Amino acid sequence: MTDQPMMRVLAGEAAKVPPVWLMRQAGRYLPEYRKLREAAGSFLELCYTPDLAVEITMQPVRRFDFDAAILFSDILVVPDGMGIGVGFEDGHGPALDPVRSAAGLRGLDPDRVIGHCAPVYEAVSAIRDALAPEKTLIGFAGGVWTVATYVVEGGSSRNFETIKQWMWSDPAGFDRLIDMLTAATIAHLSRQIDAGADCVQIFESWAGALAEPEFHRYVVAPTRRIVEALRARHKTTPVIGFPRAAGRMIDGYAAATGVTAVGLDTGVPLKQAQVIQKSVPVQGNLDPILLAAGGPALTERIVEIGTGLAGGPHIFNLGHGIVPQTPPDHVAGLVATLRGMA
Ligand code: CP3
Repeated sequence: MTDQPMMRVLAGEAAKVPPVWLMRQAGRYLPEYRKLREAAGSFLELCYTPDLAVEITMQPVRRFDFDAAILFSDILVVPDGMGIGVGFEDGHGPALDPVRSAAGLRGLDPDRVIGHCAPVYEAVSAIRDALAPEKTLIGFAGGVWTVATYVVEGGSSRNFETIKQWMWSDPAGFDRLIDMLTAATIAHLSRQIDAGADCVQIFESWAGALAEPEFHRYVVAPTRRIVEALRARHKTTPVIGFPRAAGRMIDGYAAATGVTAVGLDTGVPLKQAQVIQKSVPVQGNLDPILLAAGGPALTERIVEIGTGLAGGPHIFNLGHGIVPQTPPDHVAGLVATLRGMA
């Protein structure tokens, strides 16, 4: 797979033009996605129907010629597979039957995830077959802490009060949830690699909610276990870690977890990114709202990030997922600007 620009960067090479893909590159900002989404009925139906997941994964790659495809799925298929009811209501985000104490863990089974997600792995291998050989296929899972926040809070959260209450009042019980999610995540990522994913990304979207001691216990430690388990089975498969909004805790994150590369959120300054890049490839970190806004400020920032990180391995991306109001033209313009920098 060394013919893939993104895999070469993950191996530590600096590219003349950075390979580019965007978090949430498939989704509601694309009219062709909205059309399929309406026909399917529910979001999870899309995730568990291989033909639809393949088509949606390919849509942005076809339209924009990105260097990578990311499997169309969601981080919440893991708790769904463990037996926690997950639903997506239009416009309200995810809703889960919350697990708020160790007693609620009864009946949940991390071993059920890979059977439940068989259609997801089927989609992965069909995408790899459909994708041009020079394009990288990215598999993914949520970080254990981030998935735990949805499981315990029952959906999105602002202050994470319920999960923090459990975490401090019953650390042993809470560790059992963390262990279950860690085991399920290892199995889920490993199956995606077996099915043809060239690399995987761990989306730790809520890493920034934790102070340093808990960041180490619930973000770094589970990530390290996942990386070690994957390395034992898939020696060379790169793992990208994305500890969003971790601030200065991101500096030691790659060394402590063993990830191959680090995704940078929008808040990471260019100078800090350049320092991190001396030890590992970096990915990021354009403000997704600037991509939606467009104009000269967008072009200037693309060039600033692109040239600022051109001295080392860099994969161009956003600092968080693309937002639904993004005009597709701005995305086409981003790719053209980057490739024009050569
Ligand atoms: O990047 C990609 O294109 C691949 C697909 C992907 C989705 N979700 C599809 C999706 C990926 C990688 C994710 C990751 C994900 N899911 C994260 C981590 C990244 C991040 O954004 O922080 C999180 C926290 C989730 C959980 C989740 N899924 C939420 C909170 C929501 C509702 C908010 C929203 O954006 O709608 C979802 C739904 C979701 N996941 C949609 C898509 C395309 C929208 C579904 C729809 O209504 O059509």
